[in-house]
Amino acid sequence: MKTLATLLVACAGWSLSTLAIYGQSTTRLAIQVDAVVAPVSPTFSGMMTEEINHSYDGGLYGELVRNRSFKDDAKTPRHWSLVQAPGAVGSLTLDPHGGMNAQLPAGLTLAVKQASPQARVGLANEGYWGFPVQPKTTYRASFYASLGDDFSGPLRVSLESPDGQEIYAQVTLKSVQGGWVKNTVELTTGRSVKPTTAARLVLSVDHPGRITFSLVSLFPPTWHDRPNGNRVDLMQSLADMRPTFLRFPGGNFLEGDRIANRFPWQATLGDITTRPGHPGCWGYYSTDGLGLLEFLEWAEDLKAQPVLAVYAGYSLPPKGEFVKPGPDLAPYVTDALDEIEYVIGGPETKWGARRIADGHPAPFPLKYVEIGNEDWFDESGTYDGRFTQFYDAIKAKYPQLQLISTVGNEQPATKRVHSRTPDLVDEHYYRKAADFIHEAPERFEQYDRHGPKIFVGEWAAYEQVEPWKEPADKRSPTPSYRAALGDAAWLLAMERNSDIVLMQCYAPMLVNVNPGARQWRPNLIGYDALHHYGSPSYHVISLFNAYTGTEVVRAQMTGAKSPVQYSVTRDAQAGWLYVKLLNPSPQAQTVTLDIAGVKSVANKATTAVIAATSLEAENSLAEPTKVAPVTQKISGVSPSFSRTLAPYSVSVFKIHIH
Ligand code: AHR
Repeated sequence: MKTLATLLVACAGWSLSTLAIYGQSTTRLAIQVDAVVAPVSPTFSGMMTEEINHSYDGGLYGELVRNRSFKDDAKTPRHWSLVQAPGAVGSLTLDPHGGMNAQLPAGLTLAVKQASPQARVGLANEGYWGFPVQPKTTYRASFYASLGDDFSGPLRVSLESPDGQEIYAQVTLKSVQGGWVKNTVELTTGRSVKPTTAARLVLSVDHPGRITFSLVSLFPPTWHDRPNGNRVDLMQSLADMRPTFLRFPGGNFLEGDRIANRFPWQATLGDITTRPGHPGCWGYYSTDGLGLLEFLEWAEDLKAQPVLAVYAGYSLPPKGEFVKPGPDLAPYVTDALDEIEYVIGGPETKWGARRIADGHPAPFPLKYVEIGNEDWFDESGTYDGRFTQFYDAIKAKYPQLQLISTVGNEQPATKRVHSRTPDLVDEHYYRKAADFIHEAPERFEQYDRHGPKIFVGEWAAYEQVEPWKEPADKRSPTPSYRAALGDAAWLLAMERNSDIVLMQCYAPMLVNVNPGARQWRPNLIGYDALHHYGSPSYHVISLFNAYTGTEVVRAQMTGAKSPVQYSVTRDAQAGWLYVKLLNPSPQAQTVTLDIAGVKSVANKATTAVIAATSLEAENSLAEPTKVAPVTQKISGVSPSFSRTLAPYSVSVFKIHIH
């Protein structure tokens, strides 16, 4: 006993006094393996995404050049600066009408009066808080240009330190093509280059002349080598979560702060030179380089289903602009039908043919379509009418699709008016960790099993301050271990009730951790240009996803009242039993697992435990895995065996059964 208590203290860092009642409060979890309560939904655990916190521009989307088409500000070329060596003379001018086409109307002109091979003039981009410089890495740079009569090249493209003293990679283009033709170069760093974000991209010349730029771009290697693709390390961290679906494009980003700023799916298609981008609702311009097709391919690359949210005629408060159901709404319904056609239509359809022309012949495996986002905010009382109009039109054309209402059971009855029964309702939960822990044991157990199924399309525990009130940049952008314990309780509750909770996803998922980059906390995965980490909640979600069977089995806590929360699933075909336990209390808890309804239980099992020395422990770029699971093999497993759960810990067991 003493040895185990000492070990717990060593592992989890808790004082011996907190273990005073260790051994006194034994709890039994009776598991009836052959009593299946529900199948685990094949789309139970997914991801929610939108352009917030620089999730795509400055995040997942591979583009490294910030303000690549000079649309961030009509008056000044933000994130660009003039490079002018001593003795050289030049200027940089933003011309709002000097760009390559109607979608990208602005051009940035470099006018060089005096320059030489020893004294260059150029323009520098600062990137999204720097550039990810790695050794032995090839970056693809491109730009479009219009040339003055006095200029044809050469032009040097370099990835270099902010003071220009160190060149990480450079290429000189002997001649530059004007006429808004694409110029491309590859920049490859040497093996001795040290990884850094302290870098800028410079395009420079060493003789007088005039050149106007549009769409200046730099891409690192991308996931699956997709052109216009995604950042590799972030995609890997998402793949490691084993998501089964991707809910996009929002969230508030779908709605926009006004109708004109809703997600413009049609304008996000095609070559990036024809994408105008649009003002996002989180305070910065979206390039829409990661557009509808890229969302779909992102899901495809992770073997996840797309869950498409279509704009439903309501934009964000406080303006709360809305479209009246009836003839006014008809074009928006048509737009949604077209969008769905783009996703699943055949070659004989207008938008299916467009998808094929865009490079994706196969339809995507779309099953769920969400009508709007958080329409409970709409005080006009039109959601029922709007939902009905979308529902009737979509079901008539695509009866196989499951339709999701954005007004769920957590809303007052006055808001929950549905003339058409949704297949699912989307519920959003942002709660204090302690509230999740308190509510979790009963929340979904109480639900009417005859109503619509549940999609918990956004949820996250926070420590104290509500996410929408959290002043920017006061705290780290990802939550502490305290929140992760709340998240664990909520996940267990949802998994136990998989018969009704068909889908769930944490939100928001991505955050650039640089000062000024975020609008919300807590978030799941933090990053700068070069590195990333998962919050403790990320590790809880990933661990739970890795240890889930195909069916929920009956399990019940017996004996003394225990704070321990649980969920038990099995994979009968593969012969695995998965037991998940949360001890949210400051005391260690001994739990006896009584496993019935199987012929035998293997002596050896795998367990993984997440614990931390403090509830305030956080992961960060500097300490990416301070809180992370520790996996080990255990023996002595039997139809009735005991384990002691460390204070404030999350444990999973993978047990072989016959
Ligand atoms: O996840 C952040 C925001 O929270 C989402 O955009 C919105 O749907 C919710 O209010």
